Amino acid sequence: MHPLVRAFTRSLGQSRIKLPARRPLLIAFFASVLAVLPAGLHAADAPTIIRIGTIPGLKFDLSEFSVRPSAEVEVIFTNSEEMLHNFVIVKPGTRETVGLAALTLGAGAAEREFVPPTPDVLFSTKVVPAGSSASLKFTAPATPGDYPYVCTFPGHYFLMFGTMIVTNDPRPPVKTPLTPAKPVTSSTAPVTTTSGAVTARAVTTRTFMPASGPASIAVQLPGGVSYCWDAGAGRFRYAWTGGYVTTPAAAERGLAQINGDVFYEEPAFPLSLGTSPGAKPRQVDFKGYTIDAQRVPEFETVVDGVTVRERAEIKDGKLIRRFRTSGEATVWFAIPSEADAPGLTATGGTKQGAFYKFAGAAAKEFTITMPVPPAAPLPAR
Ligand code: CU
Repeated sequence: MHPLVRAFTRSLGQSRIKLPARRPLLIAFFASVLAVLPAGLHAADAPTIIRIGTIPGLKFDLSEFSVRPSAEVEVIFTNSEEMLHNFVIVKPGTRETVGLAALTLGAGAAEREFVPPTPDVLFSTKVVPAGSSASLKFTAPATPGDYPYVCTFPGHYFLMFGTMIVTNDPRPPVKTPLTPAKPVTSSTAPVTTTSGAVTARAVTTRTFMPASGPASIAVQLPGGVSYCWDAGAGRFRYAWTGGYVTTPAAAERGLAQINGDVFYEEPAFPLSLGTSPGAKPRQVDFKGYTIDAQRVPEFETVVDGVTVRERAEIKDGKLIRRFRTSGEATVWFAIPSEADAPGLTATGGTKQGAFYKFAGAAAKEFTITMPVPPAAPLPAR
């Protein structure tokens, strides 16, 4: 196993989600209820009950719902997925801030239910395990507005959110998420274990992967190579030869184990668009993936407004990554060091310093190719 992956597995293997201690947030919550009750206006009202579930692809099954100002509300949140989620209502315009704050909680994050200690958080559930529900009772804000709700489990805020509309207007219908432009598929196989078997069709598994973000996808390609794609970061992470992954039972909440040897790790998000090579994209949004007849996935992201599709396959002992983009912009691919990616080449582009440059038609479709080593580990770096 690659040393980085091994170290990461070890460090995360020790952290376990613990049951919550009573939180300051809970106290704040009761305080806010008490502050409203003396008015006596809403205490007798039947609560507005909102039921929210989860659907594959890190989404709530409601993209919005409406409540009246100061209404008594009960949200019943059910997690029907294999991942952990919570449900957090925040002040208008603070979803990203709160989501990012949750990423930096560090030690004790699980004890806090991944809810950052900020006044931007209005109401929150604890982390809800697969197959469980949580009830969140609260008094809606008195001020009309769009109050985001979001899952603050690390990395999920990117994709998993909706809007609680506080309004006196007649309530619009509750909305389910927009159907993605491309079908988003996910493997629902609970446990996938293969040991070096070469499959005729690709296998795609959404799971917690070592050395990657929490919204990761493992892919086993026909040809004996597997790779990890990080949906949160919208990028290829690493590839390995040998077997596929062993995923822990849902209740264990651990990381998947890589049954092979990592031969390539992408050092960073590889693409930049426009005139300056290496410019960090302002925004990368993961949209989902499609699969073909061999069940090989093609991932779709939007990078600074340009749709980028990436598909990897094995051909003639080489890992071939095909990129397709929608825009007119010049695309740059940061070339890893020769030590990190021996023999990496590109089609359609020209080499300029540490980048491959793809302009015009070449920017619409190009490939990055590297030889796959025989199934043996790289020397430790
Ligand atoms: Cu979540």
